[in-house]
Amino acid sequence: IKDHFSLQSNGPLSSTLPHKQPFVIGVAGGTASGKTTVCNMIISQLHDQRVVLVNQDSFYYPLNDEKLKKVHEYNFDHPDAFDTELLLSCMEKLKHGEAVSIPNYDFKSHKRTEQTRQMNPSDVFILEGILILHDPRVRALMNLKIFVDSDFDILVECIAMGLLIDTYYDILTTNHDNSFTSADSDVRLARRIQRDTVERGRNIENVLDQYARSVKPSFEEYILPSKKYADIIIPRGADNDVAIDLIVQHICTKLGQHDLCKIYSNVFVIFSTFQI
Ligand code: ADP
Ligand code: C5P
Repeated sequence: IKDHFSLQSNGPLSSTLPHKQPFVIGVAGGTASGKTTVCNMIISQLHDQRVVLVNQDSFYYPLNDEKLKKVHEYNFDHPDAFDTELLLSCMEKLKHGEAVSIPNYDFKSHKRTEQTRQMNPSDVFILEGILILHDPRVRALMNLKIFVDSDFDILVECIAMGLLIDTYYDILTTNHDNSFTSADSDVRLARRIQRDTVERGRNIENVLDQYARSVKPSFEEYILPSKKYADIIIPRGADNDVAIDLIVQHICTKLGQHDLCKIYSNVFVIFSTFQI
């Protein structure tokens, strides 16, 4: 109880209700590992609770015209690509019961759109993003830290063997046996190619070039090392029903403690009133 509540009392006669702290979950992992899908599964199974999903992507710095001219050199997988100060200040306000406006990021223009998203205080917040476990100040907000495991070894091996992109794409999109790596890795990189070409205005050359130049090196330098901070590591992402079920049960147990505290606080208020 002490972990999730700060009792705001001025002494035994105070009737101040405790300030309820939300339960904050961090979900990190490599690109297209299934973070968003896992979060949506958790949210749908927590149907009785007020849950809000906060994407770290919303806090990407918008690129100015100068940076846009060299967008192919920009590293979107580096911690400095995110406005972490803004994320921290939004979370601080939400934790204190204030509504906030969250930026809306457009992956095609690499800028924030004019519309923002109004976010209200809630019982549970899920912070999701590739580098959400990187900054110690963001980690300090979290009650539960999750890492969705992933790797993209097939691309690395293809590049190392000097294979052409067409050959590589064939390997990804056909289901034949190959000696490169597990089917899991194939599927995940295929997902990123499919998503980025369909939803984010890229072509396959862009995706593979960006992957080799910045996505993979930053995954190894910043994202993978943040796995050690996770309380739970989920292999196979959204396919891992057992892990998701266990996480949901854990959150429900913790939220049950919130309710228990609410009861204790009401008893405290009644007790104080009798003393008056
Ligand atoms: P992330 O948030 O880690 O980038 P997403 O959850 O957005 O990953 O998943 C990337 C893409 O892969 C999406 O199109 C999603 O629908 C798909 N996807 C994720 N997990 C699975 C899965 N277990 N089976 C099939 N498709 C999946
Ligand atoms: O949804 P996902 O976790 O994959 O989003 C993070 C990825 O988005 C990063 O790996 C980054 O390379 C990519 N990104 C991009 N263009 C941007 C912003 C992020 O390709 N403008």
